[in-house]
Amino acid sequence: MIFESHAHYDDEAFDGDREELLASFEGKGIGTVINIGASLAGSEATVKLAGQYPFIYGAVGVHPSEVEELSEEGMERLRVLCGHEKIVAVGETGLDYHYPDPAVSLQKEWFARQLVLAREVKLPVIIHSREAAKDTLDIMQAHHAGEIGGVVHCFSYGKEMAREYLNMDFYFGIGGVITFKNAKKLKEAVQYIPMDKILLETDSPYLSPEPHRGERNSSLNLPYVVEAIAGLKGISCEEVVETTERNARRLFNLTVQPD
Ligand code: NI
Repeated sequence: MIFESHAHYDDEAFDGDREELLASFEGKGIGTVINIGASLAGSEATVKLAGQYPFIYGAVGVHPSEVEELSEEGMERLRVLCGHEKIVAVGETGLDYHYPDPAVSLQKEWFARQLVLAREVKLPVIIHSREAAKDTLDIMQAHHAGEIGGVVHCFSYGKEMAREYLNMDFYFGIGGVITFKNAKKLKEAVQYIPMDKILLETDSPYLSPEPHRGERNSSLNLPYVVEAIAGLKGISCEEVVETTERNARRLFNLTVQPD
């Protein structure tokens, strides 16, 4: 079944129909979901969701755009949440230079601290990197991220950067952007990345694939992403679903369920 590796179902965009939507997943082929914390409150909400739904696991962390809320106390809270049995990763964390705030120095500091946390609690890390390719890579290399392991979520760089992450044995989260007509660089990168390093993701409620671009996204749209990857790789949709599920279970250390 489809393994959704990155969604934000704690987001208020789902307040009106969260229960109905999540209840529909199994019947639509969505087997497992990793809910991703993007703030301290989002991380708390992630632990709660994971406690409510057997098929939801979680990652706790603070997104680069939200790091102004972090403090020693906040880091300690994240460390405690990492001890929850259904928390399988630290993140999302990283660098985002799209907007002028928060200051680059602050983003770098809390990114590095979350990498250190991931190493301490022995969990893989979910990387968010936007318009910050070189700095992201520098910090990851300085912290030997290859020993921590993880996934570059919503991978948006080209082949050269993909090679750097492959050298660290990282995975690549591929989502709705792969269905966009103008995603030429990303399509080349996906052709280049070995199939056993690709994870499916949506980043719901954001980044809906074609033909739903601009609408609220959910894991129910993942078949469009599967189809796009299958086309680029010249393999069947079933193979994309099976391989990406196996990859995600390997990365997040979730035992494979017998079918
Ligand atoms: Ni996200």
